[in-house]
This record gives sequence, C-alpha cells and structure tokens, in this order.
Amino acid sequence: MAEAYKPLDPETMPRSPGMTYQELLDQDSHEVPDVLRMQSPKDMGLHEFSVERYTTKAYHDKEVEHVWRKVWQFTCREEDIPEVGDHYRYDIAGMSFLVLRTETGEIKAYPNACLHRGRMLKEFDGNAVELRCPFHGFCWKLDGQLSDIPAGWDFPQINQDDFSLPAIPVATWAGFIFINPDQNCAPFDDFIKDLAPQFERWNLGGLYKSAHVSKVMPCNWKIAQEAFCEAYHVSGTHPQILRSLGDVNSQVDIWDNCARVVTPGATHSPLLDYDVSNDDMLRTLMDVDHDAEVPQVPDGMGMREFMASRSRDNLRPIAGDRVDTYCDAELLDSIDYTLFPNFHPWGAFNGIVYRFRPNGNDHRSAIMECILLSPFEGERPAPAEVRTLAEDESWSSALGYLGKVFDQDSFNMPKVQWGLETTYQKGVVLSGYQESKVRWIHQKLTEWIGE
Ligand code: FES
Ligand SMILES: [Fe+2]
Repeated sequence: MAEAYKPLDPETMPRSPGMTYQELLDQDSHEVPDVLRMQSPKDMGLHEFSVERYTTKAYHDKEVEHVWRKVWQFTCREEDIPEVGDHYRYDIAGMSFLVLRTETGEIKAYPNACLHRGRMLKEFDGNAVELRCPFHGFCWKLDGQLSDIPAGWDFPQINQDDFSLPAIPVATWAGFIFINPDQNCAPFDDFIKDLAPQFERWNLGGLYKSAHVSKVMPCNWKIAQEAFCEAYHVSGTHPQILRSLGDVNSQVDIWDNCARVVTPGATHSPLLDYDVSNDDMLRTLMDVDHDAEVPQVPDGMGMREFMASRSRDNLRPIAGDRVDTYCDAELLDSIDYTLFPNFHPWGAFNGIVYRFRPNGNDHRSAIMECILLSPFEGERPAPAEVRTLAEDESWSSALGYLGKVFDQDSFNMPKVQWGLETTYQKGVVLSGYQESKVRWIHQKLTEWIGE
C-alpha cells in the first residue's frame, strides 16, 4: 500500500456532528456482521489533483497506457455468456476484446482483432461456432486455434500451430468476468484480495442480472464516477432525500485496491436544523407526495427497525427465512464499494453495480452503466439485455426512483466538465475525509501512472 495512506484513529479523527455510523449500528435490531464493524479511515493528505486529469487528451493517453492496458477490469457477467460459443464484446478506450465460452465451458478472452490484417472479429454479442473474420475469412476455433485460411497455399509463412489467437488473462468473481489486457499482469486473486472476503456473506454470484442500463455522459469518465464516490454532494444535489439519509455521517474506508462509502438510510441528515417526523421520513423513503397516507411506525419502534422489517417482509417470499439473519443496516444502507479503477458493487442486498469508463478515446465523453442484481427462486432467469439510453432519455425512464437520483447527478456532469475547462484553479480541491474515496482513486492513478 502506498506511503500516502496513513491509518487514522476512528475515535479521535475529525468527524461530522451527530451519530457516527458505528453508533447507529449499536442500535440495530439484529446482530451486525463483522464486515460492517470494520473501520479503515486513512489520512491521505490534503493536496490537490490537477485539473488536467479531466481536461486533456494527454492524461487520457496516460490512463490508456498505464491503466486500461494493464489493469483487471470487469467485462460482463458469467450469465451473459452461458452457452458454448456465446461471446461478449468488451470495448475500452478505443480497444476491443472478445470474452467467450469455449467447448469445455472455460471462459477465454482475446483481443477482438484478426491476425491477418487486423479486422475486428466480432462486432456484436452473440453465439458462434467459430471465429471467422468477415474480411478474408481466416478462421479460429473458440479455443483460439487457427482452423482455416482460405487459399492457405498463399501463406507459406504461417504455421497453423503458432497462429492462435493470443489469450489474455481472465478471472471470475461473484458471477462477474474480469479480463486483463496485460498478459504479464499480477494474479487477479492478489488484486481483489481486500474486496473479495468482504462480500462472502452477500453472495452476488447467487443473484441474476435483472436490469442493465447504459448511457453516454458528456464528461470525463472520472467526473461521472466521482459523482458516486461520496455522499457530501447530497445536500446540494439531492436535497429531497436529506430527510431520510445520514449523508455526512457516512463512513469512508480505504484499503489498497478497494474502498467503500457506507451511508445510513432511514435516518435524517445531521445538516437539517429541524426535526423530521416519522411521516415525512416515510414519505421520502416511499417517494410519495407530502400529504400521502403512510403506515404508522409502532410505538417504541425506531424508524430503521421499522423500515428494515418491511424490507425483510418484501424479501421473504424469495429469500425465505434467511432474511431474519439480515441486520437493519444491510437492508437500509448504501454500502458502495469500489474496486480500482471503475467497478462499483454495492454491498449487502441492494444488488446495485455501477461501471464508468471512457467512451472510446474521447476524454470528454464517458459510458456510465447501472446493473441491478436480484434474487430469484428456482431456475436462473435470463439476464436483462443492455438498455442504452439516448441522449434525451432520462435514467428515471429506465430505473424509476433510483433513476431520478441519477438524473440529478447527471445534470451536474457536463457542467463540471465546462467548469474544469474554464477554471483558473490548477487543482481540484477535496475534503480530508468525506471525499477520501475520490482522493484514493486519484492516488491510485498516481501510483499507476505517475504525475
Ligand atoms: S483481416 Fe481478417 S481475414 Fe483478412
Ligand atoms: Fe448523487
């Protein structure tokens, strides 16, 4: 771990007034799992990160060379390619890779490029019995071995045995398929060692992909990503949810390749200078009008206990009595993990996953995606197709309440890009604690790229 990550003492570090997240957990009606009791705050200094990280093609090119060509990155779910020959096209920063299932059931990945004159082998996701290039017809088996060259007599220089597609490293975790374009990369298990044990209890591999929504955002990919890396912006950007979210009481934990922000739900923001009635908090949580009828919280029961018990009741038909082992926090809170550089699985039972990446080599354009994972009964349902939103389509048209919040975040993104193109500041200013996950990402970029 970098020198720049100095452990902080959670007891004495500066923090927001109001309850800490750990104090809130003390009130949980169920046993709180160890993973939520972990605390790993880090002092990473207060320095600024250059605006050029967001505004220049030169920095994007460095990210491509030192990060995107080198790092483990999430491509698709295993359930997206269940059958032999199923293939998925994964594009990153002007490069394209094919992820596919071979005859033995193994998952392999190759650069999506013909070894003859380079044409992309597959333009679309789908199923194929072989990989035949549409240009002149060179053909490879799914396992990468060369199987046919039309008029092969004219290529005496090609030896069939050493003209296989170059496989690149592939790994799976919790139903997610990762690739690394670097054939000499460090093992995936090392890369994910801080994050994987924390998810054991939550078994994301046992969920199915119930939604997958994608949209091109007019900003650098880091601007989009950083909008989801802190809760400090909630009072400015999502004031309507302050009545039901402990925004500035979020706990931020930093490890080496992963970090998390845990934000309590069903509790009001310490920033509000008035009392929030149960009815008002419920209206916010249920996203209904200010005068709508809402259920009564039984006397002596706290709002978090009440909302968690409703959530257990909703999950019980599918998850069974397992729901009684889920603590209130696991059912109510935003437990937003990030695995460097761009993979964001939520912990516990929310089943939300984000991914952010550059849109080709345009450093002012990003692809933002939200995947929802859901429990199922019986046979695994088919995974959702990707729904790509047009420029004028809202997130809420695809994701309801969650989408409304994304629309507010999205509204900021191009304005942040404009502001950073304009500013006389040399660097971006970040807070010491609440924005420390953003700082961690930049610190990681510095480690990988250098400054
Ligand atoms: S480029 Fe693929 S067969 Fe020629
Ligand atoms: Fe937001």
